[in-house]
Amino acid sequence: ASVTVGAPALGFTAVAKSLADTVAVPSGYSVTILYRLGDPINAATAAYGNTGSDTNFAQRAGDHHDGMSYFGLSSAGTPDANSSTRGLLALNHENITVGYLHPNGPTNFTAAGPRPEAEALKEIEAHGVSVIEVTRATAGAWSYVQSSSFNRRITPNTAMQFSGPVRGDANLRTRYSPDGTTGRGTINNCANGTMPWHTYLTNEENWAGYFRRLSGDAAVRTAAGRARQNSSLARYGISEGRQGNYFWSTVVASDPTSTIFSRWNATASTALAADGTADFRNEPFQFGWVVEIDPFNPASTPRKRTALGRMNHEGCQIGRTVAGVKPAFYMGDDAQNEYIYKFVSNTAWSAADADATDRLAIGDKYLDTGILYVARFAADGSGQWLPLVFGQGPLTAANGFTSQADVLINARLAGDALAATPMDRPEWTAVNPATGEMYCTLTNNSSRTPTGTRAVDAANPRAYTDPKTDGRSAGTGNVNGHVIRLREAGDTSEATSFTWDIYAFGAGSDLDPATINLSGLDATNDLSSPDGLWFGLPSNASGQVTPVMWIQTDDGAYTDVTNCMMLAAIPGIVGDGGTRSVTSTLNGATNTVTTRIGKAPGATLRRFLVGPKQCEITGIHSTPDGRSVFVNIQHPGEDATNPAAPTSNWPANQGGATTAATTRPRSATIVITRDDGGVVGL
Ligand code: FEO
Ligand code: CA
Ligand code: CA
Ligand code: CA
Repeated sequence: ASVTVGAPALGFTAVAKSLADTVAVPSGYSVTILYRLGDPINAATAAYGNTGSDTNFAQRAGDHHDGMSYFGLSSAGTPDANSSTRGLLALNHENITVGYLHPNGPTNFTAAGPRPEAEALKEIEAHGVSVIEVTRATAGAWSYVQSSSFNRRITPNTAMQFSGPVRGDANLRTRYSPDGTTGRGTINNCANGTMPWHTYLTNEENWAGYFRRLSGDAAVRTAAGRARQNSSLARYGISEGRQGNYFWSTVVASDPTSTIFSRWNATASTALAADGTADFRNEPFQFGWVVEIDPFNPASTPRKRTALGRMNHEGCQIGRTVAGVKPAFYMGDDAQNEYIYKFVSNTAWSAADADATDRLAIGDKYLDTGILYVARFAADGSGQWLPLVFGQGPLTAANGFTSQADVLINARLAGDALAATPMDRPEWTAVNPATGEMYCTLTNNSSRTPTGTRAVDAANPRAYTDPKTDGRSAGTGNVNGHVIRLREAGDTSEATSFTWDIYAFGAGSDLDPATINLSGLDATNDLSSPDGLWFGLPSNASGQVTPVMWIQTDDGAYTDVTNCMMLAAIPGIVGDGGTRSVTSTLNGATNTVTTRIGKAPGATLRRFLVGPKQCEITGIHSTPDGRSVFVNIQHPGEDATNPAAPTSNWPANQGGATTAATTRPRSATIVITRDDGGVVGL
């Protein structure tokens, strides 16, 4: 079938903005609750009581469902790219709403601790990744297969292998891994990547927050000849005085040989060997990576792909694959004023690799050798990919870089040296399968200002005060975010230059069209803080194949008006809208920049879903036939200050109650289908 861009039209009625505690979808569509926090993944584990007393989270769904991929599964238990009724779902459990995990909230929740061992173990195991089998009965609804032998939980305690140029580097050596080739677990897994050879990429985002680092640590590192680590830790947000998000390192383990709690204290000890193999001072360097998982082999050891660099990895999506051409993998580093990256493999694509049975070996082939690039956006609508190669340009010993491993560990420092463009928080990336154009959500940036160090520029052109007086207190900067997109030179993934524009700016439809609502959003498609992003490629009843882009929000700015949402779009192409002059005014400073803006989306962008209270909508994938779309509802009712009076009762209030139900909210995967069996969205 031929692929059309920009047609046919979306085929549903827009969902209204809403503050209701429910998942709303268009008329003619249905929601099935599929896989909730605490759901057991084997026959031996009891149903979830949802009282805060449940244990054994390594055998249950974790919390904060996030990025997700569907892999079709054949009757032989092998990958089947055409199966739309049986598959494996791999999904991330990014974080936890700690208040609901215990009967009365967390105990000794201070830097002094000590945190109870059982509470900390539960919190640790509620992070990570799930792989679960899902099936759709003939003409029936979806369910997950509780006793499937494919089901697996990967947690922060699961054994990992390091792969690529940083494997074995001195910075990775710990008491657990004296040679720096192995590690334990993955944490704060945000967005995903779906590889054509049927593996899942999970990406370590806000890992830094979990570590304790006490004062005096920097001096010990300097004395041990590791002053470079101090600059690195500072650049990645691990300053002295940090206590760690959940104070796990305060646990006094019942097994004195266990280090699963003490490892979260990265403070270097003077009493122990200078190479770091007697303590966990190097543990922060074991995180911040892209991790590859083979969902079809539950016994396989996940591989941390160090060639893709170390940062707050949001997601990692592969661009179009073309035989004989080196594929590209697009990544955002989600923090204020961080960069967009791409990795170009050294290996040209061979379609036969999609059918290989040793899938992680194919990952070795494409993901372990190549060039990592960082993006610089120019005001004239062009841009460059700058290589992070040791010895090239400023990445030399004179500027503090010591090796290619050092460049990859310190990708942010390399991006600084290369004068990459600081962006308004790069979140998900997605590639239009019809055009190869890459889209990246820039969710918001409260530190963007008209002038100064973080001055507006053509690619990040807005800084303003949310003008609403109705309780919307979103502060200043780029309050509502935007979606940028780029077209590679020559339409090839190997390009080192590109052109770009801004697909759409987030805004309330009531805001000033000259300075804020630049894309002319209306009541059917206004949005704020775009985050999740994914292209499906469904075909309609006439056989027309159309790329549909899904946008999900993680917002605090428009949430006095509406809960977070998901929209569908049939976007055009880079350069279809022309230039626009944008004036930013904030705190007495004013600046005008010329940006590149896509054609106003109008009816080609439409709200498809609104979630329950205090949730984020994140994670989306579909079956290959486009008739079942999987979406994650993350942290409904996330204000858990009083667990006895939850701020949301979802999904219990939408057919998702448990056997011994309390109404505590639960993150969950849902499936959306059309009542007439048709393709979702068209
Ligand atoms: Fe986990 Fe940047 O979102
Ligand atoms: Ca996100
Ligand atoms: Ca976000
Ligand atoms: Ca979140």
